[in-house]
Amino acid sequence: MSSSQETKITWLGHATVLVQSARGTTILIDPFIEHNPKYPKSFKLPEKVDYILLTHGHGDHISDVVPVASKHGSTVVAIYELAAYVESKGVEKTIGMNLGGTVQLGDVAATMVEARHSSGAQDEKGTHYVGVAAGFVLTLEDGPVLYHAGDTAVFSDMQLIRDLYRPEIAMLPIGGHFTMGPKEAALAVSFLAPKKVLPLHFGTFPPLTGTPAELAKLVGAGVEVVSWSPGDSA
Ligand code: NI
Ligand code: MN
Repeated sequence: MSSSQETKITWLGHATVLVQSARGTTILIDPFIEHNPKYPKSFKLPEKVDYILLTHGHGDHISDVVPVASKHGSTVVAIYELAAYVESKGVEKTIGMNLGGTVQLGDVAATMVEARHSSGAQDEKGTHYVGVAAGFVLTLEDGPVLYHAGDTAVFSDMQLIRDLYRPEIAMLPIGGHFTMGPKEAALAVSFLAPKKVLPLHFGTFPPLTGTPAELAKLVGAGVEVVSWSPGDSA
């Protein structure tokens, strides 16, 4: 797809991904920067980050949302309760949504889809209910359909995501322990039928042992599993 070459997807370690559309919309998913041991330290975020998407409330997905939104003027998009939570922490602009819904973010339609995972946000007062964990499908006007699964187990309704949105590029957690590992992710790939898989949520911490090579061995021919390092773009 020539169109997909104009869409830039940069992995910033763990589940943190920067998507820059061909028309210039900048979207950061799950900002985990300061305490992310795999964040590429020399990487500078663009001055303007239009939107920050949050898949769920765990610290390794939201810990930098307040400073990044403030410094880069971002609107935060999350499930309703999580959007309210980050607003209470100082984020000025939020869009609360829920599963099955779509919001238009510039030239990108963002659809919130299911994930199978817990979601709670922790601060000094304890753990707060911030809705359920989710994934996002991003349909770019002049580009591919992307799917960021968030943290999840494999689930057979991934077939609904395939039937409804036909994602070409699937960003899937493969590390295991807190999410699916390569064995489960391989079944997810068969449900989703993407052209390309961008593995996430592996190698950050010792328990996240799954590797792109293991996944590549398990998926059928015709699906490219990209072996990338934090800071790389696809
Ligand atoms: Ni999580
Ligand atoms: Mn996580």
